[in-house]
Amino acid sequence: MFFLTCQICKKTYAPNTLQWCCSCGGLFDLVFEGELRVDALADRPPTLWRYREAIPIADDAHIASFDEGFTPLTPVTIAGKSLLVKQDHLFPSGSYKDRGATVLISQAKALGVQHMVEDSSGNAGAAIAAYAARAGIACDIYVPDSTSPAKLAQIQSYGARLYKIPGAREDTARAVQGAARKHFYASHVWNPFFFHGTKTLAYEIWEQRGFNAPDTLIIPTGNGTLLIGAYIGFTDLLRQNLIDHLPKLIAVQSANCAPLMPNWHGNPSETIAEGIAIAEPARAAQMLRYIDQTGGDVLTVEDDETRHAQKQMAEMGFYIEPTSATAIAAYMKYPAQNDEVAVAPLTGHGLKSGKK
Ligand SMILES: Cc1ncc(COP(=O)(O)O)c(C=O)c1O
Ligand SMILES: [Zn+2]
Repeated sequence: MFFLTCQICKKTYAPNTLQWCCSCGGLFDLVFEGELRVDALADRPPTLWRYREAIPIADDAHIASFDEGFTPLTPVTIAGKSLLVKQDHLFPSGSYKDRGATVLISQAKALGVQHMVEDSSGNAGAAIAAYAARAGIACDIYVPDSTSPAKLAQIQSYGARLYKIPGAREDTARAVQGAARKHFYASHVWNPFFFHGTKTLAYEIWEQRGFNAPDTLIIPTGNGTLLIGAYIGFTDLLRQNLIDHLPKLIAVQSANCAPLMPNWHGNPSETIAEGIAIAEPARAAQMLRYIDQTGGDVLTVEDDETRHAQKQMAEMGFYIEPTSATAIAAYMKYPAQNDEVAVAPLTGHGLKSGKK
């Protein structure tokens, strides 16, 4: 049994509600204790659906999937320090957002949705459009008009209708919320089913490390869909005594747009890290609570540091987009302990970003 609950008034809703937020305006969380079946894993295909009992989709017939996930966890040396990179840029749509999209679109299929809308800085829109195509659901994607051309082309190729909105990312969010009065809002920020897909990052890292948690996770963070997902996943593992500690969650933001920093002045400026240029993240308080609870931190990087990190990764053969390189840039100046096991997800493919 699982249900939705409002973060503000605590009212509960059945998981088949078509509302995207509580009647009081509050964000939904999904109350669901995913079960990890360690004994069953050896015989299952290498996809994120191998954690079937931990994913809140009741009926297999509703699953919209490309057999995605179980991306490689690969050791590299960065600035003289060891780092494990989780190669989520290798997902079908080229970013980790597919983790959330496969679960969210499966839920939309379960609800019988025929037409959905979504807003994004590009990658979530591409993921939602890909899975909507897979599921045969019409979709409209709203993006800021400054979004990288490769992401726009990708969204349109999947057959989604594209709306380019002038102004900041928040203007795009406002535009889609008008459309959400008519159609299902497949929001990766508001719909908690998305987080119950991104949480599989934690399960995979744990399994690939021989059923151990790393010490530290370094995550590019805007709306926090990967950070919150990682927290949910590792919390599931801790609750079932499958790990003995939660990894420290380190959120990485652009110095030009860092609303999670305590002394943030509130005036965002342009950054090459377009995926995390979120000036007013709806789940900021939730993210800060999780960062605090894991003994984590918020780090910022300048665009020049990001460019340098992106180039370093490319010279080692990893082609990632600037938003993804922020985590590498942060790790370069992170004071890692000698035996600290740190993981950085490579969140988006380099082919998505033109030169800027
Ligand atoms: C490549 C990439 N990495 C990281 C993120 C951060 O995700 P979130 O905004 O959910 O924190 C995004 C978001 O679009 C992204 O595109
Ligand atoms: Zn409420």
